[in-house]
Amino acid sequence: MKTQEIELKDLDSKKFIEQKIEEISSAVGDGLAINALSGGVDSSVVTMLAHKALGNKLKSYFIDTGLMRQDEPQKIVSWFKELSVHVEIFDAQKEFFDALKGLTDPEEKRDAITQTFYKDVFGRLVKESGAKHLLQGTNYTDIEETVAGVKRQHNILEQLGIDTQEQFGYKVIEPLIELRKPAIREIGRLTGLQEEIYQRPPFPGPALATRVIGEITLERVGLVRRATVIVEEELCDSGAFQYLAVLHEDRVTGMRDGKRDYGQQIEVRCWDSEDAATGSPTRLSYDTLEKLADRITNEVGGVVSVTYNITKKPPSTIEVI
Ligand code: XMP
Repeated sequence: MKTQEIELKDLDSKKFIEQKIEEISSAVGDGLAINALSGGVDSSVVTMLAHKALGNKLKSYFIDTGLMRQDEPQKIVSWFKELSVHVEIFDAQKEFFDALKGLTDPEEKRDAITQTFYKDVFGRLVKESGAKHLLQGTNYTDIEETVAGVKRQHNILEQLGIDTQEQFGYKVIEPLIELRKPAIREIGRLTGLQEEIYQRPPFPGPALATRVIGEITLERVGLVRRATVIVEEELCDSGAFQYLAVLHEDRVTGMRDGKRDYGQQIEVRCWDSEDAATGSPTRLSYDTLEKLADRITNEVGGVVSVTYNITKKPPSTIEVI
C-alpha cells in the first residue's frame, strides 16, 4: 500500500496521537515490543507514543553503535528518566565496527549498518526479550528518498520488499510514516517531550557513519565526533535546521609549527530547510566561520583544513554518504 503524506496543515494532532496509541496497542496486543531510541526527534516521538500505548510492555533501548555523538547515551537515558521512561543502553560497538571494517562505498556502508541493526542487534534483542514487534521512527522523507533511489535510509525495509517477519523474526511498526519533520515535532510537543528533544536538529540513525567519507574506524569516528562537539556548540543558536561536521578521505598539505603537516580536512555543513527534502546552506557570518575554523584546527588534532559547504540540496544531500 502506498503511504499517503499527512501535511502539517491537515494534521489533527490530538486525533493522530489517539489513533496511533490505539493502533500500536492493538497491533502488539498482550505481547511485548521493543524500540530503539537514537536520540533523534523521530525515535524520541515514537518512544513517547509507544510508551503511552504499551507502558511496561515496551522495552526501549539505546543501541550504542560507537558512532554516536559525545556523551549521547548518558544524555538520552537521563532525559527520558525525567519522563519516567526507562531506556537501557545496549553496547554493540564491536559489532558495528567489525561490520564496517574495510568498507568505503557509501551504500555498502549503509547496508552494513542496516544489517547490523536489524539482523544482528534487534534480531538478538527480540529473541532474548520474546518481543514480536519493533517500533521505529521512519518518516515520510525517509521513504521518499529511498524509493526515489537517492540513498538507502538505514530504516527503510518494507518499501524495499524486505519481509521483516521472514528475514529477521519480528514485525515493524512505523507510527510516523505519514509525517514530515515539522509535523513530527508538533506531535512530540503534545506527547510531553521536553523542548530540547523535540526541537533538536535532526540526527540520522546511522549517526556519525553518515559523516565519515571513506573507511569508518574508531580513530576517524573519534575525530569527527570532536569536530561535531565544536560545530554544535558554535551553531546551536544559528536557527538552522541541521548542522554537521564531515571528515574527508583525502588529506591535504598544511603546516604546523613552521613544518609541513599532511593533515585531515573537516567540512562544515549548516542547512536551512523545512523537512530535509530540499535545503540551502545557512548564510553564516564570516566571524562564525572563522571561529569554527580556528577552534577545529586548534582543538581537533591532525586537522589542517576546514571548509564550508555552499551547495544547495539538490544537487547536494544533507549528509555526505
Ligand atoms: P539526506 O542526506 O538524504 O538526509 O539529504 C535527509 C535527512 O535524513 C537524515 N538521514 C537519515 N536518517 N537514517 C535516518 O534515520 C538514515 O539512514 C539517514 N540518512 C540521512 C539526514 O540527517 C537529514 O535530516
